[in-house]
Amino acid sequence: MRITDDITYIGVDDHEIDLFEGQYEVPNGMAYNSYVISDEKCAVLDSVDARFGSEWLGNLAGALDGRAPDYLIVQHMEPDHSANITRFMDAYPAAKVVASAKAFDMMANFYGESYEDRRIVVKEGDELSLGRHTLRFIAAPMVHWPEVLFTYDELDGVLFSADAFGKFGALDADEDWACEARRYYFGIVGKFGKQVTAALNKVAALDVRVICPLHGPVLAENLGYYVDLYKTWSSYGVETEGVAIAYCSVYGHTKEAVELLESELLAAGCPKVAVSDLARDDMAEAVEDAFRYGTLVLVSTTYNGDMFPFMKEFIDHLADHAYQNRKVAFMENGTWAPNAAKAMRAKVEACKGIEFVEPVVTIKSALSDESRAAVKQLAAVLAG
Ligand code: FEO
Repeated sequence: MRITDDITYIGVDDHEIDLFEGQYEVPNGMAYNSYVISDEKCAVLDSVDARFGSEWLGNLAGALDGRAPDYLIVQHMEPDHSANITRFMDAYPAAKVVASAKAFDMMANFYGESYEDRRIVVKEGDELSLGRHTLRFIAAPMVHWPEVLFTYDELDGVLFSADAFGKFGALDADEDWACEARRYYFGIVGKFGKQVTAALNKVAALDVRVICPLHGPVLAENLGYYVDLYKTWSSYGVETEGVAIAYCSVYGHTKEAVELLESELLAAGCPKVAVSDLARDDMAEAVEDAFRYGTLVLVSTTYNGDMFPFMKEFIDHLADHAYQNRKVAFMENGTWAPNAAKAMRAKVEACKGIEFVEPVVTIKSALSDESRAAVKQLAAVLAG
C-alpha cells in the first residue's frame, strides 16, 4: 500500500490472536503497522508481532525492490512492534537501529542485544536525514511506554504516531474507527492522559497531513476529527451526552431495576443510555462507556457483605485508568443487609473530581413500590 510517493505500508493483519496484550478481546483481529521510507537512504519504521516476522520481512523485501534498508527506527519497544528487530538486523547486516536511549535498554532486556556498534541514539528534536526527507523525533513518553518516540516527516507532512491514534481491529475490518479506537485508548493509554495531552501539544504546530499509527488505518482525511477526539479523551472530557449504567445481577431482580432506570431516563429525555452487564459483556467496552459519558450509575447486588466481584474488577479498572471528573450514582440490592452501595462508593472515592448523585437506591430482594419510586426519582435527577 502506497501512502505517499516515497512511503509504503508493510504491516500485517492478525486474525489468529485470541487476546491482545493478554487481555483485550479483538473480534476483528489486530493490525501491526510498519512503514518504509525510500529516499537516498531507506528507513523502516518498527517491526511487527513475533508470529508475523516472515510475512513482514517479505513485505519489506517487496517494498525495497532489491535495495537494502539503512535504518530500522524503533519508536516503541512493546513486543507487538519490536519482536522482529533481531531478524531484521540479522537479515540486513549493514543497517543501523535508531531509537531512544530507554528503548536500547529495553532491547537488551528483551532480546539480549542493544547493538552498541550499529545504533543511533536519538532524543526529542533530533533529526535523521534520508536525502530529501528529514525525520524529526518527538519524545512521547508514556504513550504508551516511557521510551516512545513519534517521528515527523516534514516533506510529506506525515506523523508516525506510535500507538497514538491506533485502534483494535485488522485493516480489513469494516468497522467504525471511533468505537474500537476509544476502547483501545482507554484500555491501553487511558491512565496517561496528561502525557498524551503533552504529546498532542508538541505536534499541534506541525503541518500534519497524514497520521501513520502502529495499529489501525492510516489517517489521511479529516484529521481534525481524530485529533479532537484524542483531545477529549486525554483531558477526560465528556464525549457524548448520556448515562452509562454498569450492573451485576444474580437472579434478575437487580437487572429489572436497571431496565426500569434505563426506560425512565430515556422517557425523561436522556439522549443516550449505555448499559453493561459486567458478568457477560466485554469489560473493556464497559470501561470505555464509563469514560465516554458524563454520568455513571453503578448497580450491584450485595455479595459477602460487599459488592459483586465483577463490580470490584470494574471499579478497579476505572481507578487504574485515572477515571475522573464524572457524576456517579449507585443502586444496590440486598436481601438481609444491603451494603453494595457503601462499598462501591468507598472504592470510587479514590478517583478525582467525582460528584456523587443522590438518591442511592436500595432494593430489598426485588423491586417494590418504594424502590420503584426511588429508581424513578434517581432517573429524574440524572435526566434533569
Ligand atoms: Fe502497540 Fe504499546 O504497543
